[in-house]
Amino acid sequence: ERPATATSRLTGLRFTITAGPTREALDPVRYLSNHSSGKMGFALAAAAAAMGADVTLISGPVQLATPAGVKRTDVISAQQMHEAALKAAVNSDIFIGCAAVADYRAAEVATSKLKKGSSEQLQLNLIKNPDIIAAVAGLTKQRPFTVGFAAETNDVLSYARKKLTSKKLDMICANDVSQPDAGFNSDQNAVTLLWQGGEQTLALQSKAALAESLITLISKQFSNKST
Ligand code: CTP
Ligand code: CA
Repeated sequence: ERPATATSRLTGLRFTITAGPTREALDPVRYLSNHSSGKMGFALAAAAAAMGADVTLISGPVQLATPAGVKRTDVISAQQMHEAALKAAVNSDIFIGCAAVADYRAAEVATSKLKKGSSEQLQLNLIKNPDIIAAVAGLTKQRPFTVGFAAETNDVLSYARKKLTSKKLDMICANDVSQPDAGFNSDQNAVTLLWQGGEQTLALQSKAALAESLITLISKQFSNKST
């Protein structure tokens, strides 16, 4: 029997993890996006791979090196991430949606640079992007154990619990991004992991340490559910 060392305990477990922002083009030179750095998702991918898992990382545009042993697919827009995520999800045991997916995109992308014009106001017409994690959690065949993130500034746990239920997730990681040292672009984070019938708070620590705890907790909950 193999000892449960840090490097071998997740051998054979397949993860798909999304990370970073998405970028929604307005015209050939402009886009809508957000402040996600990708650091949390990359830390999760690094931790799972270091524990011996088979990891696919689907990343929006970020300035980060691919963690050792991780298979990476780069995408730009939410629609591209949606396609790549669903393709990978059906061959995964665990899906973690850590990406800050843009909720909306331009209804029409201009093919040439938009000109300023004489008006003092500009109205953008936006349409909703697909909800990637809800699509993964809603799969009827080959549905992976699905874990979301909820970045909130207020009523953090209550909004996160609502998302756990409405998106039919197995777990959700509630992230209070109003805290000065947590969340976007920080090297540290603090979260509460929630599931039906339980929760665990993980205090402010490095994203690397936090990622290791999260991967361990998620894998445990996954094996409890599937046995
Ligand atoms: N998510 C997704 N696809 C989207 C929007 C969000 O997969 N189009 C995922 C995120 O990756 C995250 C979870 O849904 O795992 C929650 O994201 P969040 O932005 O907090 O939730 P929304 O449902 O978009 O709600 P809102 O932004 O209004 O709070
Ligand atoms: Ca959102």
